[in-house]
Amino acid sequence: MFVEYWGRTHEHFTRAGWRCYFDPTISCFCVKIFNISSGGFGYISVKAFANRVNHLPQLDVLINNAGISAEKFSLVYGTERTLGVNVIGTFLLSLLVLPKLRETAKKFNTTPHMTFVGSAMHSTANYPKKFDGDFFTWSCEKENVNLNNQYALSKYIQLLLVNKLASHIDPLPSTTSKESNKIIINSLDPCFCGTTGLFRDVSGGKRIFLKIFNLFSRTPEKGSRLIVGAAAAGRETHGGWLRAGEVRETVEMVRGVEGVERGERVWRDLVGRVEGLGVGVGGLVEG
Ligand SMILES: NC(=O)c1ccc[n+]([C@@H]2O[C@H](COP(=O)([O-])OP(=O)(O)OC[C@H]3O[C@@H](n4cnc5c(N)ncnc54)[C@H](OP(=O)(O)O)[C@@H]3O)[C@@H](O)[C@H]2O)c1
Repeated sequence: MFVEYWGRTHEHFTRAGWRCYFDPTISCFCVKIFNISSGGFGYISVKAFANRVNHLPQLDVLINNAGISAEKFSLVYGTERTLGVNVIGTFLLSLLVLPKLRETAKKFNTTPHMTFVGSAMHSTANYPKKFDGDFFTWSCEKENVNLNNQYALSKYIQLLLVNKLASHIDPLPSTTSKESNKIIINSLDPCFCGTTGLFRDVSGGKRIFLKIFNLFSRTPEKGSRLIVGAAAAGRETHGGWLRAGEVRETVEMVRGVEGVERGERVWRDLVGRVEGLGVGVGGLVEG
């Protein structure tokens, strides 16, 4: 097995690198650093990164792990930052590398995976009762954003969009894949892993609460095993939501009529954004 590890800095790779070095099933481990910025050049750097990925000989798995929980209001990708990174950046990259996953499936007769790292927190999100126009533009206004809700909301929207993407790639429910689209798209909750960098900016009482809560949390290694499990799971997980390694029924606000309508609306807004960058979503999704 050949593993390429992409990330923004060297410091994350030391432990993972040593583990792979001692794993007999891994013949080559390669670290590549690429600065996916979320600043003013965010779109450009995601497109440039996708371009690099699309020049790899093959792509078997895309794990969409990048995520933040911003403590202060700011904008990236033309929307509030948590929403920008967890939703816009994530889906822009995913859409851009879809053709590579498809090409890999055909060329090597394999079933590539696209796995999104979600969060069970999505079920606690407060979705705005009313908003005008494009959801991401609406979220640019500070008074429209509640930062205590924003992480959960971004993961809720992410899950609605994963469902939309999965159903475009291959209609749900289905047990066999379309011959032209042998890709498995799923998402999961890695469960609470308190010692990661996710809440790095939290301070005050919230920080103390988290420190106590961390005592009962999983290690990041256990969380990462769940992620790898989802990225290697079978066709039955396509369009599915996994928790503790198993496909689970989503909550009513995701699977019900309301969730479907909201999914349609944010999908339209996402497509508008991505197409505004000159990327034809229809062609990428339909293949
Ligand atoms: N920890 C938990 O309890 C928990 C629970 C449920 C779900 N999750 C989800 O698990 C995923 C990983 O989170 P984590 O807990 O492992 O936190 P983490 O240690 O902070 O990892 C997040 C990763 O995202 C990267 N990232 C942040 N902004 C980015 C951007 N604009 N472009 C590219 N990469 C970016 C970070 O890179 P840098 O370090 O270079 O900034 C970091 O490697 C997230 O999606 C999170 O929502 C975590």
